[in-house]
Amino acid sequence: MEAIIAVIKQCPSGALSYSIGGERANQETGNDGIVVSTDGPYHVTGEVTLKVPSIHFDDNPRRYALCRCGGSKNKPFCDGTHWHIGFKDEKN
Ligand code: FES
Repeated sequence: MEAIIAVIKQCPSGALSYSIGGERANQETGNDGIVVSTDGPYHVTGEVTLKVPSIHFDDNPRRYALCRCGGSKNKPFCDGTHWHIGFKDEKN
């Protein structure tokens, strides 16, 4: 179980999570901020409030990836399409 939790904690998009005894585990990373990934999404971690009019969050996500290529079918989140379309950002 500890190995699985370690993998989940390394998930950059926050798409993976886990619960213990019905309680969702804290997604603290200790590295709050926004990182522009090479040819990929913005990786957001920590106390960054995400406001999306069309989406209700019970709890503000603490780790997520925002689409930067414009191709995601799950905007504003990255769904991996950047990889399939060969998104390149030569400046970042
Ligand atoms: S950056 Fe990943 S789908 Fe757009």
